[in-house]
Amino acid sequence: MDTIIRKTTDPDAFVLACEILKSGGLVAFPTETVYGLGGDGMSSDSSMKIYAAKGRPSDNPLIIHISEMSDVEKLASEISDRARTLMEAFWPGPLTVILKKRPEVPDTTTGGLDTVAIRMPSHPDAARLIRESGVLIAAPSANTSGRPSPTLAKHVIEDMTGRIDMILDGGPVGIGIESTIVDMTGEKPVILRPGFITKKDLEAVLGEVEIDKAIIEPDPNLRPKAPGMKYTHYAPSGKLTIIEDSKDSSAITDAVTARINAEIARCEASGIKAAILTTEDRKNLYKCENIITLGDSGAGATVAARLYGALRECDDIRAEEIYSESFDRDELGFSIMNRLLKAAGHRVITV
Ligand code: TXA
Ligand code: MG
Repeated sequence: MDTIIRKTTDPDAFVLACEILKSGGLVAFPTETVYGLGGDGMSSDSSMKIYAAKGRPSDNPLIIHISEMSDVEKLASEISDRARTLMEAFWPGPLTVILKKRPEVPDTTTGGLDTVAIRMPSHPDAARLIRESGVLIAAPSANTSGRPSPTLAKHVIEDMTGRIDMILDGGPVGIGIESTIVDMTGEKPVILRPGFITKKDLEAVLGEVEIDKAIIEPDPNLRPKAPGMKYTHYAPSGKLTIIEDSKDSSAITDAVTARINAEIARCEASGIKAAILTTEDRKNLYKCENIITLGDSGAGATVAARLYGALRECDDIRAEEIYSESFDRDELGFSIMNRLLKAAGHRVITV
């Protein structure tokens, strides 16, 4: 299949994209979190096409993207006052809400679940695409299954050229990790996937909020409530290991830098291509040919924005072993570490 690529500023970009979506085709587009791979969420055929293009198991449900509050009634059968308060507080923005679904929402879109994931993105290009097409857009992240989510159009072009109808290039995204998912169908709100909106942000509006236990500790006996959280995601091809101080997991002590440098020296001596993930302000502590930086250690948002791009750069240079510093697990740091630990397959060395 030929894939049309257009900048969102090209005069015909949105007309073409809307035609494709309305006729059941697939269009990748920027959102404030990561690029999405969009199709008609109310069409079973389009959802099937999305799973096929991503190479994703069809039991892993899709998020439906909307542009106005009244769209929620088309998708959800029950909307509690508390769910309304939540949506009003954080939409448009990087929040996905799980509600009981209406029968009109195809089972293929929700992976057979009786709930539906809904999000109103704040990115102006995403909002415009939903509004002008009139389509409720089901969109997973626009990466092939198992690769880091795309934060640049270049990443989407790498993964999706020849597999979908169109790619809308709106430049780099702002946030860089996927939306916070909150399940509003139970007694208490539960975070199923941490993101830019933190537990503290949610609690300021909702009172007590829980975190799905299965995402805190990797335990094969616990099944995450967001099916996608059980798959190995975000993984670079090389073996990624996090090096952590045993007393303070977020402190980059001399022991941590010494261990990372020692691992790199060992790799280089045996001809193994190695890379380091650190921050701009600390890169001079290391000796390595491939130092890949993740923003600024004092500003979590800059680390989040760079994380997936950095993991892809590890693949670009074909790094076989990658050593990363650890980050503070507070607030946004909790979400960053959730992604980094998954990318590392939970391989952590404490020193
Ligand atoms: O920021 C985002 O959310 C991005 C952009 C494109 O909006 N989208 C995204 O979609 O990350 P995806 O498909 O890569 O991740 C969706 C996650 C998966 O973990 C999936 O299992 C979960 O949402 N999910 C979807 N519907 C669900 C439901 N009804 N109940 C529980 N989890 C659900
Ligand atoms: Mg994804």
